[in-house]
Amino acid sequence: MSRLIVISNRVAVPTAAGGKGAQGGLAGALHSLVREQDGFWFGWSGETVENPATEPRFQTAGGVTTATIDLAPQDVEEYYNGYANATLWPLFHYRVDLTDYRRETAKGYERVNETFAACVAPLIGPDDTLWVHDYHFLPLGARLRARGLSNRIGFFLHIPWPPTDLLLSLPYHERLVRTVLQYDLIGFQSEEWRDNFLDYCRRELSAAINGGTGQITLDGHSTIARCYPIGIDYDDFAAQGQTGEARQAQQRMLSSTRRRTAIIGVDRLDYSKGLPERLDGVARFFETYPGSSREVVLVQIAPPSREDVKTYQQIRETLEGRAGRINGEFSEIDLVPVRYVNKGHSAAELFGFYRAAKIGLVTPLRDGMNLVAKEYVAAQDRDDPGVLILSRFAGAAQQLTDAVLVNPHSPDAISHAIHTALKMSLDERRRRWERMHDSVRTQTVQQWAADFCRDLAATTPMRTEGRGGLLRHR
Ligand code: UDP
Ligand code: G6P
Repeated sequence: MSRLIVISNRVAVPTAAGGKGAQGGLAGALHSLVREQDGFWFGWSGETVENPATEPRFQTAGGVTTATIDLAPQDVEEYYNGYANATLWPLFHYRVDLTDYRRETAKGYERVNETFAACVAPLIGPDDTLWVHDYHFLPLGARLRARGLSNRIGFFLHIPWPPTDLLLSLPYHERLVRTVLQYDLIGFQSEEWRDNFLDYCRRELSAAINGGTGQITLDGHSTIARCYPIGIDYDDFAAQGQTGEARQAQQRMLSSTRRRTAIIGVDRLDYSKGLPERLDGVARFFETYPGSSREVVLVQIAPPSREDVKTYQQIRETLEGRAGRINGEFSEIDLVPVRYVNKGHSAAELFGFYRAAKIGLVTPLRDGMNLVAKEYVAAQDRDDPGVLILSRFAGAAQQLTDAVLVNPHSPDAISHAIHTALKMSLDERRRRWERMHDSVRTQTVQQWAADFCRDLAATTPMRTEGRGGLLRHR
């Protein structure tokens, strides 16, 4: 039987309780896949140690096997904080201004990809299928091919793929993209990112492209690029909403906002999420509609992320300053119009907060998908649903076209959208919500994974020379 081996930087090690519910969303869906297909999930343990072992640590809980390796401090600095999160992340989110181009970190990224390939290759049998995830591992497939693997290998990019003119600013861009073409199937969140990728292959590599099927042919070898929009684990999230934890969170939010209309924002503290711009939009709303700061409160949940990267330290400072200024200007003795919470919350708590909020404000400057937008829709009361305000630059805007779509760079557009949402009739709220809810309920993370795996199984695996000597350990 062909096993499925999932590879990503972060690995959700299942809890002793195991199974669904314990870890919903993407983690839960990938757990189900590796459990059903008798495979394992391989990646970084998240631990940093001097002289890490090269043998992965296997763990099995609830029928799910994971295999992780530790990384050395220099690896984490150059690969994770450096090339992945200070070069590829900003560039792929169209932030050339924040992109750091360093030779050492590029080398560290290559080195860690090689380490991962060296650790996982001996564990792969000839019939196994591999599914590699995200920008940390763009060249991993090519590294595995160089070790003689001719297995089917799929790749899914969770973040945007940038337009060609931006990618050209990356040193050795061509070498990087050529490695990506070593995968059998390349998945993107939206047509826009896929089209950017095809455009690069056409313009810079003179590859032959079949726009209809997404087939890319270069040097006699073909691969397929397609769009697979990720969704949420709808059933699991709905079940979270039935818990006491969700109900308590909803009550807490309702009682603390004291009949004022709550707007909710939930984002990792990342400059791609448009948080300072969002606060400017809310401030513009308070200025434009005098008295509104007494009626409306923004609850912004923003757990810190990638704290060792300078741009993340800067965004945190910027945001703290901006929230302080707005509250200084609009607070009164008995009310604070912006609540900025630097702490993470569970899925059940988020469900309760989403449901208590009449507006979900999701305004990334650029986002591969944005699952918070889908969770907000899933958590609404069908009889009295809230309004989703969504950036047109999030992958989710391609599917949730009934949201109030905004330009997240414009404070006036955000202010106007909040006003529109507050004035929207119940009939219109219901109409919009029903269509969005249909999409969120049917285009789930399970559907996404099934579609990708089905198409990967239908590809013709690559032929590579000299693939003898691969051992199956386990
Ligand atoms: N999330 C969470 N607790 C928090 C904040 C966020 O569990 O305090 C989850 C959120 O529910 C969503 C995910 O983190 O499922 C964020 O995914 P999204 O696609 O919106 O953005 P990303 O962080 O992947 O860029
Ligand atoms: C985004 C990326 C993921 C990443 C996550 C959290 O969703 O696409 O690959 O795991 O952010 O970021 P972190 O750096 O903490 O893993």
